[in-house]
Amino acid sequence: MMRIPFIAGNWKMNTTVAKAAELVRGMVSGLDKIEGVEKVLCPPFISLTVVRELLKGSSVKLGAQNMHFELKGAYTGEISPLMLADLCEFVILGHSERRWYFGETDEMVNKKVKAALGSGLTPILCVGEGLEENEAGRAEEAISKQINCDLSGIDPSSNIVIAYEPVWAIGTGRAASGKEAVATIKFIRVCLAKLWNEDIAQSLRILYGGSVTSSNIAEFVSQPEIDGTLIGGSSLKTEEFLSIVNQTAEIKCHPV
Ligand code: PGA
Repeated sequence: MMRIPFIAGNWKMNTTVAKAAELVRGMVSGLDKIEGVEKVLCPPFISLTVVRELLKGSSVKLGAQNMHFELKGAYTGEISPLMLADLCEFVILGHSERRWYFGETDEMVNKKVKAALGSGLTPILCVGEGLEENEAGRAEEAISKQINCDLSGIDPSSNIVIAYEPVWAIGTGRAASGKEAVATIKFIRVCLAKLWNEDIAQSLRILYGGSVTSSNIAEFVSQPEIDGTLIGGSSLKTEEFLSIVNQTAEIKCHPV
């Protein structure tokens, strides 16, 4: 089953609107030329409109970094799936920074996944174990709980991308090894097969995320199990990000 390689840049809480526009202008034509990889940029909410304009006519897609699970109402400061569905195709949900800094529970993530799908957005669902869980040998337990709760009651035929992001590897410069990432991604497919079925488990794209750079991208995307990456810090550097997407296309689309 063909899983199209996927690279998303998560800009997190970086860039003003002007900087976001500058960043996109600097990378869009380079990204557009790279074929065979689905490319997504996830700027802060307030830059979605301007980035959307700049991406028009290109093959680069747009995503948001979070959303509320209600469609509208008295939730000061929140952004709803309906607002996003007008602007973009993807939304990152359950990122560990949301879970750890803002107390998002699996129950909330589950409601968000349902609301995103109901509004026509494709969730990029992040799961991953913390350092303590990893060191205590409880990574699989933590991840299976996240997968089962976050995807509970979801139609198996839904359009979802999953990102395995070990918390200890995010923004730390300490990436997982390709081998570690593959082992966990295989385990995620086992969880998906149990929750839904083997065909669905094999058809969903699963990314790795955490301290990916142009120097280590090959280690991940050369693994057939790993369908791409979710990039934080390196997605804010034009040459880095272009090199990451280029190497992915080379390795996935023209294997030697
Ligand atoms: P990083 O972040 O690439 O800066 O480690 C990855 C992520 O949080 O998605």
